This record gives sequence, C-alpha cells and structure tokens, in this order.
Amino acid sequence: MNPIIRPETRSDYAAIHDITKRAFATMPFSDGDEPDLIDRLRDAGALAISLVAEQDKKLVGQLTFSEAFAADRSAGWYALGPVAVEPELQHKHIGSQLINEGISMLRDRGAAGCVLVGDPVYYSRFGFKIFSHLCPEGEPAEYYQILPLRVSAPNTIISFHPLFHG
Ligand SMILES: CC(C)(COP(=O)(O)OP(=O)(O)OC[C@H]1O[C@@H](n2cnc3c(N)ncnc32)[C@H](O)[C@@H]1OP(=O)(O)O)[C@@H](O)C(=O)NCCC(=O)NCCS
Repeated sequence: MNPIIRPETRSDYAAIHDITKRAFATMPFSDGDEPDLIDRLRDAGALAISLVAEQDKKLVGQLTFSEAFAADRSAGWYALGPVAVEPELQHKHIGSQLINEGISMLRDRGAAGCVLVGDPVYYSRFGFKIFSHLCPEGEPAEYYQILPLRVSAPNTIISFHPLFHG
C-alpha cells in the first residue's frame, strides 16, 4: 500500500522525533543528533519543507529540507536531510517516494539545487552527484553531493544551515 505523502502538521512533531530517533539509532555514522536537529531547524523557522509519509493513519517516514547557503550569495539552495523511515518498513520505497515528492516541490519553487551528505549509492538514483571540489570545510567530501536543478552546473561552495552544527 502506498503511503500518503503530505507536509507535516503540528500534531506530527512528536512522531517525527520518535521515528527519526529510532531510524538513526543503529546507523554507525550517526551521532544521535538528527531528531533534535529537526526540532532546532523548526524552532528557528529554518525548516523549509518537512514532508511526512502516513500509512494507516500512522506516521511512517519524514523528510527534511532546510535553506542552504551559497558562498557566491546566490539564492535558492536547499539541503536534504535528515530523512528517516520506520525501521520495520524500510526498503519498501517509502524513502524514495518522500525524496521524489520533495524534489518535485523544490523544482516547483524554482530551486537552484539541493545538497546533502549521504551515501552516493542511494542518492545517485535521484540525480545527486558527488561535488567534492565544492564541499564546505568540515564536511566529508566523499559524501558531499549536489542535485543541480535551476543551476545546471553548480560552481560555488554551498553550506548547511549553522544549526546543523549545534
Ligand atoms: C535511508 C532511508 C530513509 C531510505 O528509505 P527506504 O524507504 O528504506 O528506502 P527505499 O525503499 O525508498 O529505497 C530502497 C533502496 O535503497 C537502498 N537503500 C536504502 N537505504 C540505503 C542506505 N542507507 N544506503 C544505501 N542504500 C540504501 C536499498 O537497498 C534499496 O535498493 P533497491 O531498490 O535497489 O533494492 C531509510 O532506510 C532509513 O530511514 N535509514 C536510516 C536513517 C538513514 O540512514 N537516513 C539517511 C541518512 S543519509
């Protein structure tokens, strides 16, 4: 059964925190900050898009986009993540549906592009490509990817919101 993909509402906040916590709990690369990061971004008004997946009236996944910052001060850049799916329901394309819907919303906004730090094997299927030479200091260059949208050939360093680092 396909989940409903929709923007978050206030009544989703606790479930988003909980799903994100459990989805990242076993990830070796995680520092456990992901659920709090979403809350920090929301509290600061920096959560550009938060989409949830709902199945049988239960929240089963969530995807975050926040504003990202280009060194050349060009506008319209976004960062993808965290993204999380209920552990028991992973590998059923819920994550892909959230990401595809999110990218479609970015296109509709005329976004310049979207950055993320993540597994290139997974994210390449959505059009993300490694851009090591544009990686901000302190981020892992081998996982730094950009999805070019309005800007077809990104040529500036694009940084995450400062709240990603506390
Ligand atoms: C990453 C995540 C959101 C993907 O959601 P999902 O619903 O499980 O993924 P989908 O079913 O849409 O995608 C399935 C495909 O992606 C692959 N895949 C899923 N997670 C992956 C990962 N972390 N790394 C590499 N490949 C991954 C699967 O092997 C599968 O490949 P296939 O279709 O060729 O069999 C989910 O697995 C999750 O919550 N993981 C824990 C939190 C996390 O790692 N978030 C991302 C941090 S960058």
